[in-house]
Amino acid sequence: MPTISVAARVMAALSVIICLAGQAYAADAPAPAEKKPPYTWKAAVKTVINPHEQINDEGEILWGACLICHKSVPDMAAEKSIKDVKLRFDDPSETCVRCHTVKPHPAGEDSPEARMSGFVVPNHMVVPRKQIATNMRFALKENRMIFPLDPKTGKIICSTCHNPHERGLLTGRADFGADATRRLRSATMDICPNCHRK
Ligand code: HEC
Ligand code: HEC
Ligand code: HEC
Ligand code: HEC
Repeated sequence: MPTISVAARVMAALSVIICLAGQAYAADAPAPAEKKPPYTWKAAVKTVINPHEQINDEGEILWGACLICHKSVPDMAAEKSIKDVKLRFDDPSETCVRCHTVKPHPAGEDSPEARMSGFVVPNHMVVPRKQIATNMRFALKENRMIFPLDPKTGKIICSTCHNPHERGLLTGRADFGADATRRLRSATMDICPNCHRK
């Protein structure tokens, strides 16, 4: 099968998903008394392409799924880090927010109380200041994970904290946290102390 047709089909499927995702998020907003949709988020997710599903039940790698986020299928022998792979967007986070319209987080408790007390939701998508960069280096010595940053700007991106890959696809550190709760790179450990220490 020529790669181009796979890419075209993936992109067509993607535009459908983006519409569906938009509707799902719209349903979250405080709407006037309306009937709930006749499906749950969990059930709906099973009907769309899930880009985090990268290995099928037979254990085969779904190379077509890579093209949802990557411009070309990564050569696993040669491409070992974010610096080597070609993502669909210049800003690596753009790859995620096409489907995930998230509020600023973590530590983004956007309640009226928090706002009234002058609480400002921290912007995490920045170049880590010196102390935090040091903490991250220290954490990488203790734990077998990765914290990829935007190679162009050095900023934190979505996949600094979240592993977008399915468990077993990548080897070593890059596999850590794959398929963990919220796909967090820290797997079962608290992710905050990797960057924030007392
Ligand atoms: C949901 C989006 C998404 C999908 C789908 C995806 N990747 Fe990635 N991949 C990324 C992002 C973002 C990075 C760079 C950040 C990082 O390191 O995780 C990356 C990085 C990588 C890397 C470099 C190692 C690493 O973790 O830094 C390899 C190798 C890779 N991907 C292989 C694949 C293969 C093979 C597939 C298909 C089976 C695939 N990816 C599917 C988003 C994705
Ligand atoms: C094509 C749409 C699509 C893209 C692109 C995409 N995702 Fe997802 N993501 C999904 C779907 C569907 C699910 C739910 C299925 C699941 O949990 O495996 C999901 C689940 C997740 C979850 C778990 C949410 C939870 O409540 O546990 C995280 C975290 C996540 N994605 C992060 C990312 C990151 C980071 C990227 C970019 C590198 C990304 N996603 C790109 C569709 C997408
Ligand atoms: C500094 C680490 C960090 C960064 C950067 C980050 N996240 Fe998260 N994310 C978390 C943590 C921790 C949670 C679980 C607790 C929470 O919601 O605060 C989470 C939860 C999520 C969830 C599941 C809950 C929900 O709100 O639906 C999704 C989806 C998600 N993140 C996507 C993203 C995307 C997309 C980006 C980039 C725009 C991103 N994250 C950037 C740490 C991070
Ligand atoms: C990948 C590293 C990383 C992780 C993981 C992380 N943070 Fe942060 N955090 C940062 C950076 C970078 C800033 C911005 C600091 C600055 O402006 O210089 C920040 C800022 C903050 C701030 C604002 C106050 C300050 O220190 O600047 C709070 C509060 C915060 N983070 C809470 C959390 C919580 C809670 C978690 C875990 C759910 C978390 N962070 C996970 C890197 C991280």
